[in-house]
Amino acid sequence: MAIAHEKLEKNIGLLAVLVAVAVSLGGLAEIVPLMFQAEAIKPLPGVKPYPALELAGRDVYVREGCYNCHSQMVRTLRFETERYGHYSLAGESVYDRPFQWGSKRTGPDLARVGGRYSDDWHRVHLINPRDVVPESNMPSFPWLQKNTLDGVTVQSHMRALKRLGDPYTDAEIAAAPAAVDGKTELDALVAYLQGLGKHAPRGN
Ligand code: HEC
Repeated sequence: MAIAHEKLEKNIGLLAVLVAVAVSLGGLAEIVPLMFQAEAIKPLPGVKPYPALELAGRDVYVREGCYNCHSQMVRTLRFETERYGHYSLAGESVYDRPFQWGSKRTGPDLARVGGRYSDDWHRVHLINPRDVVPESNMPSFPWLQKNTLDGVTVQSHMRALKRLGDPYTDAEIAAAPAAVDGKTELDALVAYLQGLGKHAPRGN
């Protein structure tokens, strides 16, 4: 046994292959069950694909790189649930493509920010955070109030998501351009933020 072991350790090629096999088996043992667990792939009650305006806001969120400073994942730790609310569940983000969980927190976690502030607070904060939080080092996003949304882009995004399996109805897709007509990227981003955590279980 000791000799076999020594041979293996000295044969770098074989060792690399066996290490890869061991790591893959471990990975599969963790990942495969998740793919079949209903609670990991089914939406929580009430969780629906994003309405047109919120979907457009989510695109702005991703484009502006908000995730570089904000996670959307409350961990199952007491100090997290006391600060933010119920810990995040997989069934909340089945329609998040790509998901925004993350671990980088220059700013606070946003998974439960919906309803915490008024729409007006968010507007002022996004245009210049220091107007409401004097010590803030969050960047300003003043252009969002000038850029208007393009209904056709939002509509084709919904069509693509439907093709991937999101249950949008044809009526919802047809109504998308009217739903975002005349709205700015700021309107959309605020709508998206106000929807975050809407379907989370109450309490900690
Ligand atoms: C460079 C890092 C950085 C980036 C990028 C950033 N933020 Fe922030 N954000 C912060 C910090 C720090 C705070 C805490 C201070 C404050 O409230 O301004 C914060 C606070 C917030 C809050 C208030 C959260 C709370 O619970 O009080 C919201 C909402 C928010 N950010 C949204 C956004 C959005 C949307 C974007 C992208 C358009 C964004 N942030 C981009 C750093 C960042």
